Amino acid sequence: MPDIYAKRRTRLIKKLGKGIAIIPNAPERQRNGDAHYPYRFDSSFHYLTGFAEPESVLVLVAGDEPQSILFCREKNPERETWDGYRFGPEAAREEFGFDSAHPTEKLDEILVDLMADRTVVHYPMGADTDWDQRILKLREAVQRRVRSGIKAPDEMRDIRTPINEMRLIKDASELSTMRRAAAISVAAHKRAMRFARAGAFEYEVEAELLHEFCRHGARHPAYTSIVASGANACVLHYISNDAELEHGDLLLIDAGCEFEGYASDITRTFPVDGKFSGAKRHAYEIVLAAQLAAIDEAKPGQSWDAPHQAALRVLIQGFIDLKLCKGTVDDVLENESYKKFYMHRTGHWLGMDVHDVGEYKTDGEWRILQPGMVLTVEPGCYIRPGKGVPRPLWNTGIRIEDDVAITRTGNEVLTEAAPKSISGIEELMRKS
Ligand code: GLY
Ligand code: MN
Ligand code: MN
Repeated sequence: MPDIYAKRRTRLIKKLGKGIAIIPNAPERQRNGDAHYPYRFDSSFHYLTGFAEPESVLVLVAGDEPQSILFCREKNPERETWDGYRFGPEAAREEFGFDSAHPTEKLDEILVDLMADRTVVHYPMGADTDWDQRILKLREAVQRRVRSGIKAPDEMRDIRTPINEMRLIKDASELSTMRRAAAISVAAHKRAMRFARAGAFEYEVEAELLHEFCRHGARHPAYTSIVASGANACVLHYISNDAELEHGDLLLIDAGCEFEGYASDITRTFPVDGKFSGAKRHAYEIVLAAQLAAIDEAKPGQSWDAPHQAALRVLIQGFIDLKLCKGTVDDVLENESYKKFYMHRTGHWLGMDVHDVGEYKTDGEWRILQPGMVLTVEPGCYIRPGKGVPRPLWNTGIRIEDDVAITRTGNEVLTEAAPKSISGIEELMRKS
């Protein structure tokens, strides 16, 4: 396993010319009093190291003698009694395959030496003002040595640019972890569908999701779960999750676990009573058709925007049929009246972060999809009460979201097994 990380570091170092890269892990964050938020490593730091301890920093020295150096906490028997095991530099170097490792306290002192005669400092520029200042100060310290013939780096670059491009294309081991994350989230959504009934509270459904994540070793959701019944589903980032489910409601659940550092992101919408009917059923069929049309466009060689455009055309025709929009599909595309009911885009990159890194455009053009990219496909419609809006559709929020990996020949829907056809959902709920 450390091999994967070492190979990634080697690939990155090759892009750095004669520079030096400084990549800090995420800080620990206090929640309140003596309580901390559960520690979550920085995704890019972990992508390059596999090392999960806080207070660690990766330094890469590029050039003729490339080096990969870890700075981490020292062994500390007393702290380890309270907080648990620490590798310490020596064991970390050995276990994770670094060229050398040092205590984090030595970072500044060693960096002043390592930065000497490097042309560029690569680090996450602007991500943290403390780091910005620290790096400028270190550069100044190198600069003060000019009289001994040393040259300080005269260029700073954002290390996230090359790392993000690497992270955008998932390798086989990442895809296998993402399949596992997806499978756990599928199980959680099925569990929620079996559990949901009028009279239950949204947070009870959320508890079912979290139980299923955790019992498979996915200790945390990749983002706060959205469990939104009835009108709440029209609030895109609804997370109060405290309303009672009522007969006739649709329930929108947008939830996905993080497993071994990788996110999944699934949305399903289903009737609390287990049976689709009336205008809401019609609206559901439209969103599902839009989602399937978008997934069809998610293939190599296609533009990033193609799934969105495919979903939009189906949604708009549906909005016209439902009497939500007037005119032809082209009119509605042009005047953007659909945005009242569909105001977000159809997906995003997915990976270690739920909204994962990677540019969506290059040189001003939408990016071309390539094997190894993973994206979500998540069209929806959100219909609030309003003049001219058919009453049976008031307070209808529907979204259907899957995680899609681009393959050599098309795509793999990682979250396929979560029912989304009307018959599939009704059958699962009938059996519960
Ligand atoms: N759950 C966040 C999103 O769907 O983008
Ligand atoms: Mn999403
Ligand atoms: Mn989502």
